[in-house]
Parts: sequence; C-alpha cells; structure tokens
Amino acid sequence: MDRLAKGGPMDEPVGMPAGIDPGIPSVARMYDYYLGGKDNFPSDRAAAEEIIAIARRMGNDARQVARENRDFLGRAVRHLAESGVRQFVDIGAGLPTQENVHQVAQRYAPGARVVYVDNDPVVLVHARAILAGDPGTIVVSGDLRDPYSIFDDPMVRDHIDFAQPFAVLLVAVLHFIPEDEVASGVVARIRERLSPGSHLVLSHIYQGDGDEAVTRAGRRLYSTTTSGGIASRNLPQIASYFEGMSLLEPGIVPVQAWRPETPWDVPVDLERPGILGVVGRMD
Ligand SMILES: C[S@@+](CC[C@H](N)C(=O)[O-])C[C@H]1O[C@@H](n2cnc3c(N)ncnc32)[C@H](O)[C@@H]1O
Repeated sequence: MDRLAKGGPMDEPVGMPAGIDPGIPSVARMYDYYLGGKDNFPSDRAAAEEIIAIARRMGNDARQVARENRDFLGRAVRHLAESGVRQFVDIGAGLPTQENVHQVAQRYAPGARVVYVDNDPVVLVHARAILAGDPGTIVVSGDLRDPYSIFDDPMVRDHIDFAQPFAVLLVAVLHFIPEDEVASGVVARIRERLSPGSHLVLSHIYQGDGDEAVTRAGRRLYSTTTSGGIASRNLPQIASYFEGMSLLEPGIVPVQAWRPETPWDVPVDLERPGILGVVGRMD
C-alpha cells in the first residue's frame, strides 16, 4: 500500500490491493487522468489518451467533459444539501479528488452523512485513507449491478436512515452497464427503495447526433477496460429511469447547462454528444 499512499504518478505500482491487473485500464483511474489526477498507471493513461483522441473527432475535449461532469455533481449535491437533504449514497464514487461529495454536502449541510460505494479496489483504498476519521462518511465495496446488496449492507444501514429522505448519486457510472435491460432493472430497483422526498442524481453519456463510427471506436476502447463496456443512451431512455418521479428544473440537459453558476445561460444543445445530467425527486 505504501506506493499508493505516496500519491505520485503510479508508474511502477507495488503493494497494490489484491485483484488488480495494472495492465488493464480502469475506468476510475482513466477518469482521474482526465481530471488531471496522479492516481493512474501507464495502461490507464494510454487508454485515456486514445479516448481523448476519439472525443476530439467528435469535436469534444474529454478532459473538459470530465470537469463539467464533476462540476455538475458538485452543483447537484449543493442544491440538495441546501434543500434539506442530509444523506447521500454515492455509487460509482470514483477516486477522491477535489470537491468530493462529503466536502460539498457538509459545507452546505453540516452533519450530512455520506456513503461512498465503488467496485474498484484502488478507489476503496484511496477513499478509506482520505476519509479515515470523518465520522459522517463511510466507504463500502459494492456493485451497482446489485443495488439491494448496497442498501442492505449492515454498515450502510447503520449510517443511513432509509426512512428519511436521502439522495442516490449515479454520476457517470450507469453507462458502464452497457446492457440496456440490466441498466433499467438496476435503476428500477433503486427507485423502489427511495422514500418520499428522496432524490436520484444521474449523469450519463449521450451520443446526440454524433458520428456512429466514432462512437463505436469509443465503445471498443472501453470494452478493454475494467468496466467491460460502455453505452451512450438517448433522451427517452434517460427519462424512463425517472418513471414516477418529478424532475427538478431544468430537467434533462447537458451537465454544463444544469443550474450553471456562470454563465447563467449555457445553451441547451441536445444534438451535441456529451454527458446529460438530471435530478429527480420521489414525491
Ligand atoms: C467515471 S467515474 C465517476 C466518478 C464520480 N461519480 C464522478 O462522476 O465524478 C466512474 C466510477 O464508477 C465506478 N464503477 C464502474 N462500474 C461500477 C459498478 N458496476 N459498481 C460500482 N462502481 C462502478 C468506477 O470504478 C469509477 O470509480
């Protein structure tokens, strides 16, 4: 673990958690690379550079898209904390970076409780190291594909009062379940557990009118990563995840247009490929 704890670029990973093959790019560490982090290996950087080149063919800057997604997460958590939500379950939490969910939530709602969930062992090691000593926050190993096992985890049940409103965050993670029916089933099982006043925060890759051949190249690359695949989804599919819920304004929009701080009027361009963001409330 020493090498991981030092935090420099991980060129020669030693003492890694069990079960890690550093030759297989990890979607968590690739995202860390897009965000300018140092917790990534050569295989992650090579794969991320390929995605950066593929995104450029679509007219997108993958690093900027990642930053915009991260900023959406921060604004959504801030909004919910300011609206009175005090409990957050962040599934697919990612490697700790700046403005992590517990920092934003606790700034606007002192005492807020956060559960970080991820299935990547490197994420879990880093998150536990950083969060040790924060009584409002726990880190658990869990797989989005089996949401009941997350909600029924005794540590999670001790930390979150599911009878009270809480927020489930699925930010840039559902698209790593490429099978449409499986993804729909997962979200349906999460919705079942949302008590009235609870929220679902989602961001998801969106193809828009992007070139199908370029999208295929991206899918091929992600099929070689730890996630085993990726899927972009369209507006009706994303809307269907919120069946029986009300959408907070402004609905389903590119992440950068979801209640932006500045500028105030980011145009909503649904033709452009990118990431869509949405927050729904269970009434
Ligand atoms: C692109 S990162 C997003 C991190 C953070 N949510 C954000 O948007 O800033 C995706 C994260 O989801 C995790 N992940 C992917 N598939 C998952 C699954 N089936 N269950 C739990 N976590 C998963 C990855 O390990 C990675 O940390």
